Amino acid sequence: MPELRVAIAGLGAASKLVLPSFSSVEGVKLAAASDLRAEARAKFTTTYGLPAYDDIAQLCAAPDIDAVWIETPNHLHCEHAILAASHGKHVICAKPLATTLDECDRMIAAAKENGVRLLVGHSKVLDTPVAAMADIVKSGRLGRAIQIDTLLYNDWLRRPRLAEELDENLGAGFILRQAPHLIDIASAIMGARPTQVRALTGSWDDKMPTAGNCAALVQYEGGAFANISLNGYGYFDSSELTFGIGSMGDARAAGAKPKSRGTPLSAAEKYAAASETRERGPAQPFFGLTIVSCERGVIRQSPSGLLVYTDDGCEEISLPPPKGRAAELIELLDALRENRDVFPNGAFGKQTLAVCLAILRSAREGRDVALQG
Ligand SMILES: NC(=O)c1ccc[n+]([C@@H]2O[C@H](COP(=O)([O-])OP(=O)(O)OC[C@H]3O[C@@H](n4cnc5c(N)ncnc54)[C@H](O)[C@@H]3O)[C@@H](O)[C@H]2O)c1
Repeated sequence: MPELRVAIAGLGAASKLVLPSFSSVEGVKLAAASDLRAEARAKFTTTYGLPAYDDIAQLCAAPDIDAVWIETPNHLHCEHAILAASHGKHVICAKPLATTLDECDRMIAAAKENGVRLLVGHSKVLDTPVAAMADIVKSGRLGRAIQIDTLLYNDWLRRPRLAEELDENLGAGFILRQAPHLIDIASAIMGARPTQVRALTGSWDDKMPTAGNCAALVQYEGGAFANISLNGYGYFDSSELTFGIGSMGDARAAGAKPKSRGTPLSAAEKYAAASETRERGPAQPFFGLTIVSCERGVIRQSPSGLLVYTDDGCEEISLPPPKGRAAELIELLDALRENRDVFPNGAFGKQTLAVCLAILRSAREGRDVALQG
């Protein structure tokens, strides 16, 4: 198969996690970019010597591109994914897949009609430890998964944010930006369909108009459940509970002083403040703390693999080195070579969004929310 030429649409914070991965994947080539901001385009072209378009439609129409990695704001994912697919480009789309289930359906249909793959980007199911926990559950070695606890405390509300990133009416805000990760983790490991959600959310930072914490119980087909806990106010980082290792496999400073209390910023302020590139660390990534309880044992992560607790004691399983954000490129490439669908695909992304929207609805209406089959 010829080299897969991948373009990036949206050169903000997420793209900084993605761009360093290209050089590590054989068979993939960074090809171009698109952004509305002239300074971001100029920086990309200077750094990579590649074209950067101000109009994403031009990028999608370019003949020397095979796939578009969409890193634009949530409310643009649907429009941009359909645009890319309609030009015959494969799509990697940042989570959450979209802002409504109807948008997800249209994206899935566009990918199908145009014979291209639709892969959810930045999903933690692509992290080696999460995939390995899902494999153990699937193997049946510990019996069925009965309960998954997954918890994340971070500083999401303390990072530079635009007002539109906090706006739940635009399909943004802390819950829609961060809960997809924990839902993906729980659903992939459980390997079953979520059927019902009961949740509470809180909004306790008067300068940041978004829910900033949440507790959700998600029930799955067969009766098992996941207990999801999220808190983004920044006073505590749950990497203190995961061997001091964070979501990039990086070492985190324990007891770090919270950054100054934020307010939404202008675009000029946000992109100036968010200019540093985050480096991937050597350890397996931890997106919070996840404990998987099965009928005959428990699984959790260690810095280099998994810890499996059974009647025979605790066994540590080593895992292959972390892939970081090269995982999406490898998954797309493998799927094309093996002539199969990608994972996580559009249907999985839609399922996760359905749980997210149910969390918001359950909290708003104070009741259980059933999910469609
Ligand atoms: N920030 C993260 O660490 C992170 C991690 C994983 C996934 N994501 C996801 O990535 C997406 C983007 O988040 P972000 O944090 O990078 O936001 P951001 O605001 O930092 O970047 C978004 C970029 O998209 C550009 N943009 C806006 N409209 C555009 C258009 N019509 N055409 C081309 N470019 C356009 C903006 O100028 C900006 O550079 C979101 O869906 C988010 O959920 C973010």
